[in-house]
Amino acid sequence: MSTASEALAAFTAAYGTEPAGLWAAPGRVNLIGEHTDYNDGFVLPFALPQRTVAAVGPSPDGTWSVSSTLAPEPVTFGVTEPGEVTGWGAYVAGVVWALRDAGFEPPAVRIAIASEVPLGSGLSSSAALESAVLTALIDLGGLDVPLERRPAIAQRAENLYVGAPTGILDQSASIRCEAGRALFLDCRSYAIEQIPFDLAAAGLAILVINSNAPHQHVDGEYGARRKSCEESAAILGVPALRDVGVDELPAALDRLGDDVLRKRTRHIVTENQRVLDTVALLRAGKVREIGPLLTASHDSMRDDFEITVAQVDVAVQAALAAGAYGARMTGGGFGGCVLALIDADRAEVTADAVAAAYTEHGFTAPTSWVAVAGPGAGKI
Ligand code: GLA
Repeated sequence: MSTASEALAAFTAAYGTEPAGLWAAPGRVNLIGEHTDYNDGFVLPFALPQRTVAAVGPSPDGTWSVSSTLAPEPVTFGVTEPGEVTGWGAYVAGVVWALRDAGFEPPAVRIAIASEVPLGSGLSSSAALESAVLTALIDLGGLDVPLERRPAIAQRAENLYVGAPTGILDQSASIRCEAGRALFLDCRSYAIEQIPFDLAAAGLAILVINSNAPHQHVDGEYGARRKSCEESAAILGVPALRDVGVDELPAALDRLGDDVLRKRTRHIVTENQRVLDTVALLRAGKVREIGPLLTASHDSMRDDFEITVAQVDVAVQAALAAGAYGARMTGGGFGGCVLALIDADRAEVTADAVAAAYTEHGFTAPTSWVAVAGPGAGKI
């Protein structure tokens, strides 16, 4: 059954009636630009074809209800404040709250969710959920919320209602990406450029390898990285690390006495430059040439930002040894997925090489697939 049919069936099962429509929003892969978003920097994600679908219809009594294929018993709530709805329903209650907080009147609806975005794999399943619900509420309520304002509303739901201190990467990708393009986003101004990203035409592919590594200490470590970056910016007297250029890096590192702050700062400053360099190469049609930048990004995440784990390091090494042009962990870190830029006909060989390396190390088997850039959130 397709995800859309699953959402439809879940709606009918939960509420005994048909929905008004179906809205979908994708998970994402970040091609490059990791942890740069909350430093006002640059990111370059593309949308996955895997989506979260929300079947949505009007509520008879002014409350909101949400159920899913994983949790069929609906969670029901009225107008709430952060903290009142917990668990997975908080992502939905958070979107309703954030819309109201931004001065809009979201309609009361009943929602049923089905998703094919793998949970807990660093592919933004939570942003996909927020974005599908947000888009449905905006459409059904006829709310005048321009596309460029939407990611920040979904981000506020996640930051202030769910309580996760994430940046704007995931929601921007889920809402603003276009099929066949990578989204070059300036996380300070929210300016975007849709970068042509037709890998097949270049005889290439992106293999996504889910390390299936258990996430550990994710929230605390994420918050700690963010704090270090803010501390460094304060010491350097800049609003954010985005304001330090690579040419200013040696002097900046001299001023940061602490070794940990130096490493975190070096990652962010060099990563921002790698995004800009990747964009320049893609604009020039030099897709294969971005490979070394991807690998350099991984090395920087491993050595300076210290957010990788053995499973993702082994996947990167094995993919490179199998001939990938570049490979890196994608997403927040401490597990999750690796992406590898490969010749289009090398997907199986590369996936097998990574799986063999995992067997050798005694890791749980990885899951791999070729990812093609899909569309952003919308009605289906
Ligand atoms: C998570 C967060 C994003 C971003 C990435 C790292 O996915 O939700 O805001 O910080 O980690 O690039």
